[in-house]
Amino acid sequence: MIIKDQNEIVLEGKTFEKYISAEEIDAIITRLAEEINTVYKDVASEIILISILDGSFIFMADLIRKLTFPHTIHFVKLKSYEGEESTGHINYILDLQTDVRGKNVLIVEDIIDTGLTIESFVEKLSNQEPLSVQTCTLLSKPEVHNDIVPIHFIGKELAPEFVVGYGLDLNGYGRNLDSIYKLKI
Ligand code: IMP
Repeated sequence: MIIKDQNEIVLEGKTFEKYISAEEIDAIITRLAEEINTVYKDVASEIILISILDGSFIFMADLIRKLTFPHTIHFVKLKSYEGEESTGHINYILDLQTDVRGKNVLIVEDIIDTGLTIESFVEKLSNQEPLSVQTCTLLSKPEVHNDIVPIHFIGKELAPEFVVGYGLDLNGYGRNLDSIYKLKI
């Protein structure tokens, strides 16, 4: 990664410009956590959060530290992207290691683009008879996914553009950036 200046970086030969600052990300997550706390604070039955790896690991870590109700956390690893494009196929690289039957599930995603990943995962979970399933994403590209699956908690909506940073990558690079950058055309 080459840092050109405060607002531009080069990753894998492509230039990205700063789009969402670390401060704005923190404010978005604080607001999301308040919304989630309000919904789950009086839920008496078990609540589990499932983060979809790899991209959501930083978001998950920051989000759960702002949650005030009892919950456990779990991870699955799904892959649908090669480079800057969705392949349209979902590969389960690490499957869920817990039983969701009779539990309230909140799925935590970094970004919803075509919606295929979350749609496939919600469908798979639903077959295991959880008590409830809700979805939360830091970023959403509504023009691409056309709301194919309900998203209950949305951090920020984007135009159909490719972004990196704060857990999101290009070919594995750029996840460590504390702000989010978009591809410069
Ligand atoms: P979907 O199945 O098309 O909704 O894509 C979901 C996954 O694709 C996300 O969890 C990300 O890993 C990846 N993805 C989608 N858009 C972007 C992007 O703009 N930058 C980096 N990764 C992305």
